[in-house]
Formats: sequence, structure tokens, C-alpha cells
Amino acid sequence: MAERLAASASLLPSAASPSSSTRRATVASGLRLRPSPSRFSQAASRGRGVAGAAGVVPRLRVVRCMAASEAAQLKSAREDIKEILKTTYCHPILVRLGWHDSGTYDKNIEEWPQRGGADGSLRFDPELSHGANAGLTSALKLIQPIKDKYPGITYADLFQLASATAIEEAGGPKLPMKYGRVDITAPEQCPPEGRLPDAGPRLPAEHLREVFYRMGLDDKEIVALSGAHTLGRSRPDRSGWGKPETKYTKDGPGEPGGQSWTAEWLKFDNSYFKDIKEQRDQELLVLPTDAALFDDPSFKVYAEKYAEDQEAFFKDYAEAHAKLSNLGAKFDPPEGFSLDDDKGAVATEEKVVADPAPTSDTNGAGPQPEPFVAAKYSYKKRELSDTMKQKIRAEYEGLGGSPNKPMKSNYFLNIMIVIAGLAFLTSLAGN
Ligand code: HEM
Repeated sequence: MAERLAASASLLPSAASPSSSTRRATVASGLRLRPSPSRFSQAASRGRGVAGAAGVVPRLRVVRCMAASEAAQLKSAREDIKEILKTTYCHPILVRLGWHDSGTYDKNIEEWPQRGGADGSLRFDPELSHGANAGLTSALKLIQPIKDKYPGITYADLFQLASATAIEEAGGPKLPMKYGRVDITAPEQCPPEGRLPDAGPRLPAEHLREVFYRMGLDDKEIVALSGAHTLGRSRPDRSGWGKPETKYTKDGPGEPGGQSWTAEWLKFDNSYFKDIKEQRDQELLVLPTDAALFDDPSFKVYAEKYAEDQEAFFKDYAEAHAKLSNLGAKFDPPEGFSLDDDKGAVATEEKVVADPAPTSDTNGAGPQPEPFVAAKYSYKKRELSDTMKQKIRAEYEGLGGSPNKPMKSNYFLNIMIVIAGLAFLTSLAGN
């Protein structure tokens, strides 16, 4: 039923998270490693052992680091998104897509996916047809080929990846993103209409607080995130806001028309705040909710600061954007993963690790599985093992020294060696 309904959605079929079989297939192709402690530990305790020296039976266990495709596929998808950006200049609408998927989050609802948020629900017709999402079908059309190419990534991740890549490629800050979001699977799971902000409410500041506080965001984050309007345009035929065209938009790039908030609307910087503050050009857009950032005393503190200090804006924006992108998301693994550290970049492999001999303090319940410690498999500097330390100590002590203090010099022996050397040289000279 879910699949049938999904297929009937305007654009996008199936849509579930990668199935376990997809995941297994990507393991075979050697992608991101993810440890599976419980599984390997079970195998170990079922007793694959070999006899060791001195009667101890160290058991060998195979640590199978499960490769999840997402990291490698997401990285490739990121490159494809960059290509699309270069040719279509769709940065703004991709940012709006990511934000409208996550911005439906309601912190007062615990259950997923009822709570809304970054769960890929925006690919389904019922949500796409919400008034606030007018125009976003074209964003989906742009990135659907990427989704088709990488079946191991979810829509929820792809939306946020596309948005983050667009910000970064437009000259914005590096965003501390994480991935691993799970998709909802059926249109019935979409959030109800009305959770996104309205651009022209009666009391704009109050409205912004009502909507963003519901998402768990604060005044600083409201102002910083509004700075995303440094990119893009508003179009009367979509939201109803803005002029059909201005001197800044009549020639594109991309599809011409609409009214932008800034003159260089494909460049991510702090000009949104500067331009609203200076009100320098009637050709530039200021929505009632944008104006509220300089009217409301609490918002104004941040808006003024960002108008003066782009670095401060970038820092706060990066944090707020990453937070927004995680709202309501269910992550697998629960902590998510980054594309920018090398933890996920190792090929699939198996390591054979000798378990310590069973200890007697387990009350006969058998050896306890050792918790997985990622650092153990890193290439960072390692401490010497106790056994190795003892061995080194024994060798030093056999020679009359200790690893903690240098051996005393044997002066008599040194003098004899020097005399012998001189005698040898003298005899050579004589000959
Ligand atoms: C603060 C409340 C917000 C309101 C009331 C609002 C409203 C709007 C409206 C009316 C448009 C024009 C859409 C169209 O006609 O195509 C728009 C566009 C846009 N919004 Fe917002 N928005 C808000 C917050 C945000 C946030 C938090 C972000 C991102 C973090 C964002 C990113 C964008 C972008 C990039 C566009 C340009 C889209 C394009 O050029 O196609 N907005 N917004």
C-alpha cells in the first residue's frame, strides 16, 4: 500500500531507506565502515578458539566492520550536486528545499515521524502541495537523478546534503553536517500543513518565535538562519511575494525573474543584513518577517552584529544550519556520521583480534563481549602494551640499566677501547 501510494506521488516513487539488502550489497563494494559490536561479540563467545602457549586459550574473533554505503555515496553525490550548481545556479532553491523538509519539526511531539523534521517527507505529494512549498517541485526534479544514481542514500540526507553544498559553494561557511537520516516511507506520514513560517503575519516577531521556538530554536538562530535570504529570490507566482522581476534578476542567471533580497543573490555573505539595515534599494526585497529582525529589540542585537561582522554571522549561521538540518531526524547510526573525517573512509576489511583469556569474575556467565573502541583501529600514536614494557625493562635491567634512567657508563671499558684503537692506528702508521 505504501509503495503504491508512493508511486502515485507526483515525482518520486518508493523512497524507503536503503534496505538491509542494499546495505549488504554496498558492503560488498567496499564503502564506509561501521562497527557492529554486538554481532561480532556473539560470534566470539560461541568459541572460535585456538590453543595458545602455556595452556591459555586465546580466542580469535573476526571483527567484521560493516561497511555502510552512505558515506561514499554521499561524497559522490556531493560532487554531482556541485556540477548541477555550476550549470543551473540552483543554490537558493536547494537551500529552501532542505529547510522546508526539516522546518516542520515539532519538539513537543516525541514520536518519529509524527514530530516532522528532516525525514524526506517533502518528496511526497501531500507535503509538496502545501502552500509554503510552492515551487519546490522543480528542486526535486533537479536532484531526483542523483537519488536514482545513488540508491544507498536517503532523500532526507540528500536534501540536507544539497542544501549544505549549495551554501558552501556559494561562498558560505563550512557547515558541520552529519548524515545517516532515515526516510519516512509513505505519504500518510507527512506532517500536517501550517508548520512553516508565514512571510506576512500580523505580528511578525511573535510569529517567528512561535514557529521557531516550536522547532527548539532561539532568537539568535532565527536571525542567523534568516540570513540564508542572502541567496535567492521570491516570485509572485510561487509564494505571492516579491516583484515579477528587478534589475538584479531580469537576466538570471538561471531562470530570470523574481525579487532578490540582495544584489548578488548567488553569493552567500552578510549583505542581507547590510541591505535591510541601510534600506538602500527599493529593488531589493524585505519581507515583513525580514524587517522584524531589525524592529524587535532582541532580534536586532544579532541583526546589527551580523551586518557589521560577517565572521560572526558565518560562525552562528554554520551552527544554526547544522542544527536545523538535524531537526526531528532519526539517524542510523544514532549518532550520525560526518563526511569530512576519515573514520568512514576505510575499505571493508576483517581484522583478527586475539581476545584476552576468559576471566573468572563473570559468575559463570561466560566471557563478556568487549565493547567496540573505534580508536583501537585508528592509526594514531599508540601506547606500548604492558607486556612490551615489561620486556623492555627486563632487557635494560639485564644490561644493568632501567628504561627510566640511562645506564651508567663503564669508564674503564671506554678507556681500554680508546687505547686499543690508538695502538691499532699507530701500528698502521708504522707499517
Ligand atoms: C524566517 C522565516 C522565513 C520566511 C517567512 C521565509 C519566507 C520565504 C519566502 C516567501 C520565500 C520566497 C519563495 C518563492 O517565492 O519562491 C523564501 C525563499 C527562500 N528562503 Fe525563506 N523564509 C524564512 C526562513 C528561511 C530560512 C530559515 C531559510 C534557510 C535556512 C530560508 C531560505 C530561503 C531561500 C534560500 C529562498 C530563496 C529560494 C529561491 O530563490 O528559489 N528561508 N523564503
